[in-house]
Parts: sequence; structure tokens; C-alpha cells
Amino acid sequence: MAVRTVLRMGHPVLRQVAEPVTEFNTPALDDLVADMFDTMAARNGAGLAAPQIGVSQRVVIFSVRENPRYPQAEPVPETVLINPQIEPLGERTAEGWEGCLSIPGMRGMVPRYEEIIYRGYDQKGQFMERRVSGFHARVVQHEVDHLDGVLYPQRIHDMQAFGFEDELSGHEY
Ligand code: NI
Repeated sequence: MAVRTVLRMGHPVLRQVAEPVTEFNTPALDDLVADMFDTMAARNGAGLAAPQIGVSQRVVIFSVRENPRYPQAEPVPETVLINPQIEPLGERTAEGWEGCLSIPGMRGMVPRYEEIIYRGYDQKGQFMERRVSGFHARVVQHEVDHLDGVLYPQRIHDMQAFGFEDELSGHEY
């Protein structure tokens, strides 16, 4: 398949609410997912949402093994999540650093629910439900935000904890 161009913050598709997928197990959906994995791998991403490659559909992928962009992150299984729903478990949130392939070179400290249940489907239409916490929960919340036109800077409380990663590293933040 193909590595696709990742749209950057400011592109109108990134601000749209994406459409639900209505047909599963189709060549078009398989191709979209394959392109998303190729693109995420080429950019060393932890996750990618379809709108980031210009497709306004409710499809996200994520996977964390050993990721040089997230050296402290625990592994997250390679997942295709379509038409996702997130249910927070409790009100507890945690702050953590995030980056985004649509905002290259930058990092910000973002509050996310610590523990969630997420539900959705894979590209074959197989239902999935997982209870997760920590970095896994953070990645899912970040990616699902993309489907609602939300980028992580919109969730930052303290704008001092937002900047270029090469300036932030080695300093207080
Ligand atoms: Ni992102």
C-alpha cells in the first residue's frame, strides 16, 4: 500500500466530525487501514486517525512496541478501532506528554482519564471491548479526539507546558 501525506493542524479536515463507517470487510476499508499502518510506521507514530490522511471516517489505529518517540511508554497492542466509544471509569485524570503527527516537532502536557473502557469494531466488523489505563488509555483518547475534530492543544491546561520538543528536552519541562 502507500505512505500517505499527514495533514497538519490548520487543515479543515482535522476540524471536522468524522462519519461513522457503515460497511465493514470491504477492500476500500482494508486499503485505508493498510495505508494508515504504512503511514504511522513511516513516521514512528503511536497512533493515527483516518482524518489525518484526509479521510473523514471514524477509523483509528494505534500500536506501541519500542517507540523512539515514546521511550517511557508501556507496550500497546496493534489495534484497529472503528466507530469507537469511550467510557471513562471514574473522574480521575492524569497529565502526560503528548505529540501528534499533525503537529510535528511539538509536545504538550495533556490531562486524560486514567482508566477507560473502549468499544468498537475492527475492519472485519468484529466487536471489541477493552478496559485499559495509563498510556494505552491516553493513546485511545488522543486518537478518538481526532474523530471529533479535536487536537491535543485544545485540551492543554497550562500553555507553558507546550512547545517544541527539542527545546523542552533538557529543561524543566
Ligand atoms: Ni494525533
